[in-house]
Amino acid sequence: MARIAIVTGGTRGIGEAISLALKAQGCTVVANYAGNEEKAKAFTAETGIRAYRWDVGDHQACIAGCAQVAEEVGPIDIVVNNAGITRDGVLHRMSFEDWNEVMRINLGGCFNMVKATFPAMRERGWGRVVNIGSINGQAGQYGQVNYAAAKSGIHGFTKALAQEGAKYGVTVNAIAPGYIDTDMVAAVPQPVLDKIIAKIPVGRLGHADEIARGVAFLCSENAGFVTGSTLSMNGGQHMY
Ligand code: CAA
Repeated sequence: MARIAIVTGGTRGIGEAISLALKAQGCTVVANYAGNEEKAKAFTAETGIRAYRWDVGDHQACIAGCAQVAEEVGPIDIVVNNAGITRDGVLHRMSFEDWNEVMRINLGGCFNMVKATFPAMRERGWGRVVNIGSINGQAGQYGQVNYAAAKSGIHGFTKALAQEGAKYGVTVNAIAPGYIDTDMVAAVPQPVLDKIIAKIPVGRLGHADEIARGVAFLCSENAGFVTGSTLSMNGGQHMY
């Protein structure tokens, strides 16, 4: 039986590539999205992947949304916590709202989604959780105290939950992408981005499907002994 996977933020950018990679690997994929209805419709029309709209930062919406997916599609075996936003700015100009919104969605979204799905995975004795962190959660980034804190939190969250899932066949891992050619990175001012690219040894931005291939591996049957790990995929920009 095909594994059922849900990818948050799964209709655009890295999430779209992850949805497609999991489908290609034989999973039944469901994509969650928050706002861009038009893009979600086009995505479903093109790929046949069902898209469900809710805000991952909303706890009750995650509980209800995952229950609806379980009812309509089947029990969720794989969760990829990919949804994320940026509200960049230096601390002295950052509002509390910009801090809170990034924490609520990027980090809170991971809690909300696993709270809705992890207990059943544990009962069934198989599950995969992959959380999308960031190089900027590992190394920090000027102008991103909110995003770096949330992404760094995701790495700690991953290691803690991995310990809870291990004996029940539920693995929990993170991927820390570097700068990938998505809309999110395109929003970085070009002169700033040029300086960042100059520091990437591979000499270019990453591609969404390169990240997706890492996620697909971590979600596969072959990755049963990999848990609590962070796979850095950043073109050599940050090594440690
Ligand atoms: N280190 C040190 N100083 C820096 C700096 C850096 N990395 N970046 C900027 N500065 C300095 C500038 O030199 C400038 O100094 P002076 O005033 O002395 O000239 C000062 O900070 C202000 O710079 P800006 O004019 O850029 O200031 P701003 O307020 O207009 O913008 C910013 C600040 C919003 C942080 C902007 O620089 C920016 O967008 N930076 C990019 C942040 C970034 O990399 N975001 C990643 C988004 S993609 C993502 O997050 C995905 C992922 O996971 C990788």
